[in-house]
Amino acid sequence: MIDRTPKPIVLGIESSCDETAAAVVDGSRNIRSNVVFSQLDEHRPFGGVVPEVAARAHVQYLDGIVARAMREADLSYADLDAIAATGGPGLIGGVLVGTTMAKSIALAMNLPFIAVNHLEGHALTARLTDGIGFPFLLLLVSGGHCQLLSVEGVGQYQRLGTTIDDAVGEAFDKTAKLLGLGYPGGPALEKAAMEGDPSRFTLPRPMVGRPGCDFSFSGLKTAVRHKVASVEPMSPTDVADLAAAFQNAVAGSLTNRCANAITLFEGAHGAGRPFVAAGGVAANQTLRAALGKLAESRGMPFVVPPPALCTDNAAMIAWAGVERFRIGAIDGLDFAPRPRWPLDPAAPKAVGARAKA
Ligand code: KG4
Ligand code: ZN
Repeated sequence: MIDRTPKPIVLGIESSCDETAAAVVDGSRNIRSNVVFSQLDEHRPFGGVVPEVAARAHVQYLDGIVARAMREADLSYADLDAIAATGGPGLIGGVLVGTTMAKSIALAMNLPFIAVNHLEGHALTARLTDGIGFPFLLLLVSGGHCQLLSVEGVGQYQRLGTTIDDAVGEAFDKTAKLLGLGYPGGPALEKAAMEGDPSRFTLPRPMVGRPGCDFSFSGLKTAVRHKVASVEPMSPTDVADLAAAFQNAVAGSLTNRCANAITLFEGAHGAGRPFVAAGGVAANQTLRAALGKLAESRGMPFVVPPPALCTDNAAMIAWAGVERFRIGAIDGLDFAPRPRWPLDPAAPKAVGARAKA
């Protein structure tokens, strides 16, 4: 007999970018399985994610990944209470593949289907890993997003700041390319920076000292390009030193914007609530250390999921499914994938912002 408690047991599917992933999570915060296939070999020849290639790879791998997640959880579809899939924002081809798969299982097994906002998946991960309550302050840093949010409940977000140009993960990826570090850029840049001297090159720390909580990273990337031109041909030491300087500049900029957000957040919710970092860039050890130090200085518990739950995965989608199931937020099988899907639709665009999500 399979133990059906604690309910609900949810299968989650993630396919919005270049990870094909499936996971089973239950209402007692157990991750029963968590399978992630990163399409690195598919995209490496192109130096970045190619949407059409990603969509085809999701078609090719997703059913095997879902079967493996069910096998590792030691469950059959009849043991599930709901099927959740990323409904956006993201690359539309991949989101279509994941939601179609989830809807098909839901239809065949007569189970509820839940469309999860990918950003809500990142946002609620700290409740899966650490069981924290609402409200909390969230720094969401990924390949497509860089936002500060007051998280007040499931589906209840107030955006305090966002980027006026590039997302921070995008800046990592583009800078890694400039430094000849290839794809995927963020982890490669972090590795190179470990050998580097962050004080050799002086780089700007965007937005530092300005009021508000918005971010900007395109100027920093351009500054790195000028430094590269000034030292070319780059030696491995030049690359390491530039990577370390870039990472430090990002840390300086992020902590400055977060400090302003903490003041705003505390004004609304009082002191001592958790400060959470999430999204792929929160896997970076230097940034984790800098943000942890800031939280400590402001008397806030710092919560950041383990690196494998910061980068894209389906456990976060299954968990958001658990949370949405509990409040009855079920979707129809006519749900249309949303390439853009802001967490806080009421938030004004940052001044000078390009359209994101
Ligand atoms: O959350 P995520 O996996 O996918 C999106 O939703 O975008 O984030 C991917 C981003 C990429 O830009 C990647 O380079 C960055 O997170 N990233 C990192 C690290 N690991 C992933 N950036 C810096 N340091 C890392 N260790
Ligand atoms: Zn993500």
